[in-house]
Amino acid sequence: MKNEDDIKRERRRLIVATTVLGGIGAVACSVPFIASMFPSARARSEGAPVEVDISKLEEGQFLVVLWQKKPIWIFKRTKAMLANLEEIADILVDPESDVKTQQPDYTKSHYRSIKPEIFVVIPFCTHLGCIPTKKLLTGAQQGMDMNWPGGFYCPCHGSKFDLAGRVFKSVPAPTNLLIPPHAYINDSRIVIGPDQI
Ligand code: FES
Repeated sequence: MKNEDDIKRERRRLIVATTVLGGIGAVACSVPFIASMFPSARARSEGAPVEVDISKLEEGQFLVVLWQKKPIWIFKRTKAMLANLEEIADILVDPESDVKTQQPDYTKSHYRSIKPEIFVVIPFCTHLGCIPTKKLLTGAQQGMDMNWPGGFYCPCHGSKFDLAGRVFKSVPAPTNLLIPPHAYINDSRIVIGPDQI
């Protein structure tokens, strides 16, 4: 027959065991997603294709992966951002992406992507290679001018790019940001490196 102290001790043991098991479950769930974002060091150093799980990417979020020792941004744009891209051609140097070296043919449009909402880009400014700052909100909300359509701002010498990486007129950068070769394995997985699979 257990006395009251025995019962209390047993209850405490059960609470501790349940908490530890819950913690293990949370870690196990998060590992596959993180592993898919960070391929092996060997694959990265050899410039092998990099497969990325985009199933958990929400609107407005970025994933960053390494491919050929370069960072690659994968950005999910909102419908409002996509609508904006159709409105601003007159302030851009190359709105239709006519400079062939800046993107694969299959991303040549004002979205500069295979699927409109998923934007894949090498974030090196085409002036001298700095990484631009994200200024995603429109107008003066992030220190830009009132007419800012949302995009990327290079802090080194002031180049500006829209949310498709298209360069603005009258800035030092001469061309749009580079789009790497990439392809969809299915709706939730992209591979960076090959043009098709
Ligand atoms: S490196 Fe970006 S503006 Fe010069």
